[in-house]
Amino acid sequence: MLTGKNIVLGVTGSIAAYKTAGLASLLIKQGADVHVIMTKNAANFINPITFETLTAHKCLVDTFDRDFEFHVAHVNLAAAADLMMIAPASADVIGKLANGIADDMLTTTAMACKAPMLIAPAMNTNMYENPILQDNLKKLYSYGYEIIEPATGMLACRDVGKGKMPEPETLLKYILRSIACEKDLSGKRVLVTAGPTQEAIDPVRCITNHSTGKMGYAIAENASLRGAHVTLITGPCDIEPPMFCDIVPVTTAEDMYNAVMAHQAESDIIIMTAAVADYRPETVSGEKIKKSDGNMSIALTRTKDILASLGEIRRPDQFICGFSMETEHMLENSRTKLAKKHLDMIAANNLKVPGAGFATDTNVITLITRETEIQLPLMSKHEDAERILDEIIKHI
Ligand code: CTP
Repeated sequence: MLTGKNIVLGVTGSIAAYKTAGLASLLIKQGADVHVIMTKNAANFINPITFETLTAHKCLVDTFDRDFEFHVAHVNLAAAADLMMIAPASADVIGKLANGIADDMLTTTAMACKAPMLIAPAMNTNMYENPILQDNLKKLYSYGYEIIEPATGMLACRDVGKGKMPEPETLLKYILRSIACEKDLSGKRVLVTAGPTQEAIDPVRCITNHSTGKMGYAIAENASLRGAHVTLITGPCDIEPPMFCDIVPVTTAEDMYNAVMAHQAESDIIIMTAAVADYRPETVSGEKIKKSDGNMSIALTRTKDILASLGEIRRPDQFICGFSMETEHMLENSRTKLAKKHLDMIAANNLKVPGAGFATDTNVITLITRETEIQLPLMSKHEDAERILDEIIKHI
């Protein structure tokens, strides 16, 4: 997602500097060209050769280094950058940047850089809470720097508190949000439902299905990278929810119905991927299971069809996309659902096609609107998410 992007990583003297090697590696895997600048103190914590090996570029430590490919290195690096991140950012470097001090390669480059600037402070909790440091961070924020909040946990000094640098995977997400995608959903509110719902039969058993939430989570993540404000209503899933989304956890179809109804009015785009349980156990005088002669029976009632309810109260300017899981007559059944539920699009997947459906990382989807029918090839759910949103954007 970062092919062709030029990223400058600034590393300062904090024990968390070792984690930045992991971040450099993740960025390279995303296709970015990475240049690393270290303060002299950072070189006490991690050897520049580590970064040089990972990035295939000389790691800059000293402003007056003669053996370097760019002319006026700090200006050229700053001008070429699509983004600069300082991680870990020590109290010292934050103080220098906030007060216009540029006395080494890292601070001079930062000062010359007009690209988005992300700062990940990492230090002891008491240092982090120091009002001088906090004032310096506010100042940097007011100048347009993005400040990444440190994580809480056990610090190198064995204290437990706030001040840990977030993991490389988390820092990568901030970088992706900043520059990976065109912000073609900026200003739009997107509501996504994902995962299965669960209907309790008794304290041990439930009615549910094999949905993992992967498709809905991928759509929520892609929409937020494209600048949308995303609300993700999710049934119980084992995967990590995407960052930068408002997460609304639900369990039953009724919970999901209520959550969707509470958020639908403010949403411009609604995408229901959730595999809502179609039935729930009926409660007859508090009893759900009837047992006789060693046999068990449960009376079932249909759950509310959330998508159909949305279709009935929808605003004409909203875009509503449902999913359909079919085992036969996929196109006819999906077209019928599109019309009956007053939708703008159905992403239909045929559960019998290899690589499609619930527990896989891939899917084979046909996007059906009133006018078009687009067959997508076998692709990852992340690629599907991008294509589905590309298609929706054409209609809004
Ligand atoms: N859906 C819903 N509420 C339900 C059941 C399904 O909102 N109680 C939504 C799903 O999230 C999906 C779409 O309806 O976006 C289609 O789901 P699917 O199970 O394929 O279709 P149904 O309408 O339930 O019809 P059938 O089970 O007869 O195929």
